Amino acid sequence: MAVIIDGKELAKKTRQNLKIECEELKKQGINPKLVVIMVGENQASKIYVRNKSKACEEVGIEYEEYLLDDKITQKDLIELIEKLNKDKTVNGILLQSPIPSNLDINEAFRTIDYKKDVDGFHPMNVGKLVLGQDTFVSCTPYGIMRMFEEYNIDLSGKNVVILGRSNIVGKPLSQCCLNKNATITVCHSNTKNIEEITKKADILISAIGKSHFVKSDMVRNGVVIIDVGINRGEDKKITGDVDFENVKNKASYITPVPGGVGPMTIAMLINNCLKAAKEQNR
Ligand code: GUN
Repeated sequence: MAVIIDGKELAKKTRQNLKIECEELKKQGINPKLVVIMVGENQASKIYVRNKSKACEEVGIEYEEYLLDDKITQKDLIELIEKLNKDKTVNGILLQSPIPSNLDINEAFRTIDYKKDVDGFHPMNVGKLVLGQDTFVSCTPYGIMRMFEEYNIDLSGKNVVILGRSNIVGKPLSQCCLNKNATITVCHSNTKNIEEITKKADILISAIGKSHFVKSDMVRNGVVIIDVGINRGEDKKITGDVDFENVKNKASYITPVPGGVGPMTIAMLINNCLKAAKEQNR
């Protein structure tokens, strides 16, 4: 039976420490502030954003939200970001994805001042991550790296297999693991014989959004399993990418869904907001 990695508890502990740090900053006259931009209606985004605002409130970070109509033009979106870039009271800017497909999200991400890019999506910050330099690491990969640290899971020389190559999770996560001297395989929709690859994993991280995709016959004994999936079934119940009940007896460590990676993502966003506030006031 695997050790269950308690992301909820670790995130709570992290937020408590960040609250103390935030109070220290305020004593120095620094008032950290995050602005979140959402475009159009998206039920999942609404839940994520509510959790982000709650965490800001708990830690003491000022929080402001722009809910833009889905008919907004690219020009108006860019102008809003440029206004927030110039606003010295704003330390972090987060554009919640997805946005309507007629808008260019890549242009929007690279318009955000990279010093305020608490999501770590700006090409400058992605580039710094690849080069192994200090940067804003995007929140989900960063949260997973914090879990490895907390549970003393050493990545050096390990075979890490990542399912999914998204810009938000798979790609930056592969860099984070490479920076820790792991050997990385990234699988995606065109990968052949996935099971042959997953069976060789010392650490398997799934971020593909397919409920119960990873089964126990796809992994070896003692594997470390990180489940990034958040899948909502017809019964509204949230499940991960991993068949938890089936795999937990074979794994050495496993993250649950919910209560695993999700809460850590939010805690790392808060961490990045404080980092931004500190660096802008140096
Ligand atoms: N949509 C899903 N996850 C994320 C995230 O981490 N950041 C942003 N900005 N949008 C998302």
